[in-house]
Amino acid sequence: MTKQDYMDEAEQVLFHVYNRFPVVFDHGEGVYLYDTDGKDYLDFASGIGVMAFGYGNRAYNDALTKQIGKILHTSNLYYHPPLVEAGEKLTRVSQMDKAFFTNSGAEAIEGAIKVAKKYAYLRDGHAGHEVIAMEHSFHGRTVGALSVTGTDHYREPFYPLMDGVKFATFNDLDSVKQQVTEATCAILLEPLQGEGGIYPATKEFLEGLRQLCDEKDILLIFDEIQCGMGRTGAMYTWQHYGVKPDIMTTAKALGGGVPVGAFLVTNRVAEASLVPGDHGTTYGGNPFVCAAVSKSIDLMEELQLPEHVQQVTPYLEEALEQLTKDYAFVLGYRGMGFMQGLLIDPKVAVGEIVAKCLEAGLVVLSAGGNVLRLLPPLIITETDVDEMVRRMRLVLDTFVET
Ligand SMILES: Cc1ncc(COP(=O)(O)O)c(C=O)c1O
Repeated sequence: MTKQDYMDEAEQVLFHVYNRFPVVFDHGEGVYLYDTDGKDYLDFASGIGVMAFGYGNRAYNDALTKQIGKILHTSNLYYHPPLVEAGEKLTRVSQMDKAFFTNSGAEAIEGAIKVAKKYAYLRDGHAGHEVIAMEHSFHGRTVGALSVTGTDHYREPFYPLMDGVKFATFNDLDSVKQQVTEATCAILLEPLQGEGGIYPATKEFLEGLRQLCDEKDILLIFDEIQCGMGRTGAMYTWQHYGVKPDIMTTAKALGGGVPVGAFLVTNRVAEASLVPGDHGTTYGGNPFVCAAVSKSIDLMEELQLPEHVQQVTPYLEEALEQLTKDYAFVLGYRGMGFMQGLLIDPKVAVGEIVAKCLEAGLVVLSAGGNVLRLLPPLIITETDVDEMVRRMRLVLDTFVET
């Protein structure tokens, strides 16, 4: 089949819910993807932050192959070794106490909200609690996750969503305080907002939220689905700030490419919230995905990827700084580690840059506020940064007004 055949057939049989780019990827190797015509693409998107180890990591693939030969699925009615190993490793690196494995990021958010509601229900003896989330946040597409996502255009067609959600301004502690009532059970945020436009939280904001939550017995939930798992140079972004949440969600790079997420809680929360019968999933944490989680965490540690991210980040940031100097429509950059955004002047549509980059063999993403988003695999080197810049300049040059 030709590339066009694949695309035509896809549009025949798939529900048109994505505007896909006209590329048919066939395989990957290291930090490069190859399409069905054999053209190479340098990947600075990693499947939206999933492929932390790039493509074709031998140790990772061997671990999954081994698990396929043993057992794929058991359900959560029984114990199995990969579940125990993944739980032990994940609680250790996240510094949280108890884990629940899910099938996606959105499902981890659903679980986190349920934990907070049940905690407040047991404490107060009644339901009807509220969650405070942030403007420009993104937490997923299921109804609960959409309810706490602070972008109107994602939400509007699906009203009424979950009741009792209020939005505050990110990095504005007073705006959060204004939303707090007796009914508030949780404050939910990404320590580094992703889809909303790559906005890092300030230290004062996170410290202020922690203090507010402690004073009022409100649970602090950090969504580390995009910014977690080594991406910002720590296993989890909150560890840079020293502000620990009561509940944390993780997904994306957690499984290195297989669909898995988790919500994690402290012992204090675990002991006063969900009990058997309150929550469940058929697939969540099955032997296959747990083997992937277990190997991913091993690799993260063996390859010292958080440290590697810290080492390469100044070089990447210098390159982004140079781009902002050389192109008038690149207004600046912001981010942490390997989660960076180039701020593009609204006169130039970032979507066009992303599409042209793809044509030029460079995979990048966009984010809210006309931001060009970079989420490379965590194994990139300075040489890959140079090649990214070379390919991106070919595209940016075409936007320069003559
Ligand atoms: C911060 C954050 N939370 C939640 C989600 C939802 O995850 P998923 O697409 O796996 O449901 C995403 C996805 O982009 C995300 O970036």
